[in-house]
Amino acid sequence: MRIVIAIGGSILLKEYDSKKFEAYAEIIKQLNDDHEIFIVVGGGRPARDYIGVVRDMGVSESICDEIGIQVTRVNARLLQLALKNESYPAIPENFQEALEYACSGKIVIMGGTEPAHSTDAVSCILAEYVDADLVINATSVDGLYDKDPNKFDDAKMFSQVTPDKLLEIVSTNDNKAGTYEFIDKTAIGIIKRSNIKTVIVNGNNPENVKKAITEPIGTLIVNE
Ligand code: UTP
Repeated sequence: MRIVIAIGGSILLKEYDSKKFEAYAEIIKQLNDDHEIFIVVGGGRPARDYIGVVRDMGVSESICDEIGIQVTRVNARLLQLALKNESYPAIPENFQEALEYACSGKIVIMGGTEPAHSTDAVSCILAEYVDADLVINATSVDGLYDKDPNKFDDAKMFSQVTPDKLLEIVSTNDNKAGTYEFIDKTAIGIIKRSNIKTVIVNGNNPENVKKAITEPIGTLIVNE
């Protein structure tokens, strides 16, 4: 299979050390034996911190986004270093470059592309662009809940959801730079229009990414 894996920056940089990068590098290498892998890395806390600094300067939301994008590319570079020579040694800045670099046979790792969306959208557009079979989104929750599981004890997790239902759930979210929730509206639109099979799993355990290929886990987003 051709698989796009989106890894939240908040997962990779939870502890601010090399361990998660190395654990993910190991899993990605294993998956790369049987599949063609593309990775999209998010911004996490450093992106939010930097965006906070520049927002205080009164710059536009697009420029805040641009700073966020630069941080995602630094995070992508760190994962690429952890993967050593199994990954292509440059970070694509757009989808055409990603496809071009994939012709090397190496794992391609990228961060953000343009303002006004998150790396979730990047992973779905990339999946559409390279005609991937599956997107695995490694995030900080077990799947999609009807409400915030950190705030509500009665929050329920969906094992499967349609893009329309998902849109309904996330439509109350804020859309400012650095504040996208685990999946943004652009991503949902792409999933819907191209029927991209997308699984959301808890990425705090990198093994869950492997499981998402072979067994039901997290939340599957599919058209009805
Ligand atoms: P992320 O998509 O990683 O957002 O990009 P996040 O909510 O911090 O995700 P986690 O924590 O990694 O899961 C960080 C910020 O960079 C900008 C946005 O402002 C986003 O909030 N960004 C990222 C873009 O504008 N365009 C992109 O293509 C990617």
